[in-house]
Amino acid sequence: MRIGFLGTGFVARAVAVAAATAGHDVVLGSRHPEAAADREPPLPVVGLTAAVEHGEIVVNATPGTVSLELLGGLREKLKGKVLLDIAVGLTGERGLAHPNSSIGEQLQRALPATRVVKTLCTMDSATMTDPGALSGGSTVFLSGDDAEAKARVVALLEDLGWPADSRLDLGGIETSRGQEHFALLFLGIADALGTYTFNIRVVPPK
Ligand SMILES: NC(=O)c1ccc[n+]([C@@H]2O[C@H](COP(=O)([O-])OP(=O)(O)OC[C@H]3O[C@@H](n4cnc5c(N)ncnc54)[C@H](OP(=O)(O)O)[C@@H]3O)[C@@H](O)[C@H]2O)c1
Repeated sequence: MRIGFLGTGFVARAVAVAAATAGHDVVLGSRHPEAAADREPPLPVVGLTAAVEHGEIVVNATPGTVSLELLGGLREKLKGKVLLDIAVGLTGERGLAHPNSSIGEQLQRALPATRVVKTLCTMDSATMTDPGALSGGSTVFLSGDDAEAKARVVALLEDLGWPADSRLDLGGIETSRGQEHFALLFLGIADALGTYTFNIRVVPPK
């Protein structure tokens, strides 16, 4: 599958490397492709518009505080695309940039012809791409309104190492606010454990 990433930071690079290793055709999209092309690991870097054009799936790995404005400028190119959204909007003081809302919901509202699926944002980039490195199985969440878009994202999650029993579909895109707001608890757990390399598991009743 062709996957275009918006952003060239930790998340974009980690997920792009894992997706490329699984056989997908990836490019990173940058505001400054020449500068971003020099960074490790080496990956193809193009402009933002070209990355969207490349992707059957487009991954939003930009800061949640700027995603709406940035992707709004790509609105026409994003029409009909599946948008896998990993962004979280946090302010510097561990505040929520979208209290009572989420960037997932706001992107879906601003881009009605794009199918937004929120996932992977409740963990560190290392766990996104190597869940098997943890000491036990853990949970990845999905939120989105379009079943076919979710199925395409699920196929990618499978390739990244997330089997069926690790995936929990929360429902429509409005449920992405729970995923995003989990960031506060994530940071608290990271402080307590002294590492970002952990995840949570949902344990259902017997
Ligand atoms: N790091 C994690 O483990 C993690 C976990 C869960 C969720 N997230 C979320 O995933 C998203 C990406 O995280 P990250 O750690 O990869 O962030 P990052 O390293 O800061 O990368 C973000 C990328 O977004 C692009 N960008 C576009 N507009 C920007 C702007 N105005 N300011 C800064 N960067 C801009 C930049 O690429 P160019 O300069 O090349 O354009 C930059 O490399 C964020 O929303 C974050 O909250 C991260």
